[in-house]
Amino acid sequence: MLRIALTKGRIEEKAIALFEKSGYDCTPLHDKGRKLIFSLPEAGLEFVLAKAADVITYVEHGVCDAGVVGKDTIMENGRSFFEIMDLGFGHCRFCLCGLEGKNFYDGYRDKKIATKYPKVAKDYFDSKGINVETVKIEGSVELAPLLGLADGIVDIVETGSTLKENGLTVYETVAPISARLIVNVASMKLKKAEIDLLSSRLTRALEG
Ligand code: PRP
Repeated sequence: MLRIALTKGRIEEKAIALFEKSGYDCTPLHDKGRKLIFSLPEAGLEFVLAKAADVITYVEHGVCDAGVVGKDTIMENGRSFFEIMDLGFGHCRFCLCGLEGKNFYDGYRDKKIATKYPKVAKDYFDSKGINVETVKIEGSVELAPLLGLADGIVDIVETGSTLKENGLTVYETVAPISARLIVNVASMKLKKAEIDLLSSRLTRALEG
């Protein structure tokens, strides 16, 4: 049996659709109410619904063999697990954004970046050899440059409509994002046959 942690919310529906396309009957997950664990004994799977960062924690600690989680969460929290597959949904990108018509690099002082993803922001500017100050924001990060708290934000852009409706624009793309399949290091060895079967079925569904 493989226990898989599934990120609740935005990517949940697409993940379930991909598992169904791969031949796993996920009927119990359609009308789930407030239930958090779903056994699919015939499929040899058990799904656990969790918040994105917790998916990584459960997989790292080995209480889940695998997880479906966005590359955004992996980049911010990722430590020790295998990232074995791009699942081809949940496409968006990390971007450096700010007020329209402003040159982000103007001026001499260190820039201030507001973000829900301080590690991603820091890693990005470190890779460019630029020193920045990061300010952690919990949501609606777009407010920070509008209120004058930050020179820019590093955030997820999907359709771009949140930026547009608030007079903001993309300055630079930091990294592409999509949903990934991650696997616990021990499970990769101990349950190799099950993991191989799962990934080959998912791959076939993605190709078909
Ligand atoms: C995310 C992200 C942007 C928005 C981008 O926020 O932080 O604000 O979606 O999507 P768009 O390009 O399609 O407009 P989310 O909806 O998760 O809410 P939050 O800001 O409260 O975290």
